[in-house]
Amino acid sequence: MTTMMDDQSVAQRVLDHIANRTTDLGQSVWREPVANYRSAARLAAEIEQVLKRSPTPFCPSAALPEAGSYVAREAAGTPIVVVRGTDGKVRAFRNACRHRGMQVASGSGCSKAFVCRYHGWTYNLEGRLRHIPHEEGFPGFDKEAHPLVPLSAREHLGLVFVTQGEPDLCDDSLDGLGKLIGPDQRVFATVEREFEVNWKILLESFIEGYHIKSTHPESFLPYGFDNLNVIDLFGPNSRVTYPFQRIQKLAKVPPQERRVEGLLTYVYHLFPNVLITVLSRHTNVVILEPLAVDRTRQITYTMTNDGGDDPAALAEAKRDAEFVGTTGAAEDRAVVQAIQRGLGSGANDAFTFGKFESAIVHFHQTLTSALRGS
Ligand code: FES
Ligand SMILES: [Fe+2]
Repeated sequence: MTTMMDDQSVAQRVLDHIANRTTDLGQSVWREPVANYRSAARLAAEIEQVLKRSPTPFCPSAALPEAGSYVAREAAGTPIVVVRGTDGKVRAFRNACRHRGMQVASGSGCSKAFVCRYHGWTYNLEGRLRHIPHEEGFPGFDKEAHPLVPLSAREHLGLVFVTQGEPDLCDDSLDGLGKLIGPDQRVFATVEREFEVNWKILLESFIEGYHIKSTHPESFLPYGFDNLNVIDLFGPNSRVTYPFQRIQKLAKVPPQERRVEGLLTYVYHLFPNVLITVLSRHTNVVILEPLAVDRTRQITYTMTNDGGDDPAALAEAKRDAEFVGTTGAAEDRAVVQAIQRGLGSGANDAFTFGKFESAIVHFHQTLTSALRGS
């Protein structure tokens, strides 16, 4: 179960760090071999033994607002479609027709059935094969025995988790999380981009605040702090808190009345490859799909923080997202692309992650033991 701090404890810890000029410190330093970012064999093991066997967030529940809403994309190299049924339940299938393997859905949308565009075999939202054009050409073929192949899907905390392999890497660390994405949050943008960067280098850039002063001197530093973070580890996951300077006004508020919304950014890392960044007025669900050792597809769902369908909440969220997306995110991208270009330089046999970078240390420790244990 989670041992994550509540908002009031986080606020107090931030105020203490500000007063004492300190930050959260990890237990140990970690050296990660550079070969682990460059080896195709290592990436294949990460995909087969970890990404495919972990319950991984596939999309926010809000991306499937009604019966027939679907999202199709590749996860860990497997084409998958998730769809909300007429019973409200979300199901996941391998996105491959049982005739000759064509994908039965692409992108996202809302549909009453999946009609394969190669020869028109038709599946209902529960995956059952309902229609074969000119069925007389397939004597003895049992439609009932050829549904879309299901995968395990579960809606939890406002996310759809899909697990491809059996058995699951069992993890109940999310069960105690009260809230992650609430029912009033709406998706207002979905962006897919590919970067020439290893997926772990991209991931690492989200979960430490030691780089704020050097990398973000004009975008984030004027509003935040350099190297001042609260770091929670829960199960294989973590949460890094990035406070804004305006959080200092909470010093005058009685501890139990302190509310942190708009005063800090929470960045959740859901192991292995998903980040949820909860900013002042918007939230991003970021999924990192490794395509090759040096290429990653990043799928970002941008959501409001609350307000349901209220246009004012939507406008505020869009403004906030625009600011963060055009400044800080571009600065991080330039850094990770440069690191990738230098990986083959031979300068480093290993990268050293220090005590300020403990969420990354936790990630590498977890990944290493998941690979060893399987
Ligand atoms: S491959 Fe789907 S109908 Fe032929
Ligand atoms: Fe950054």
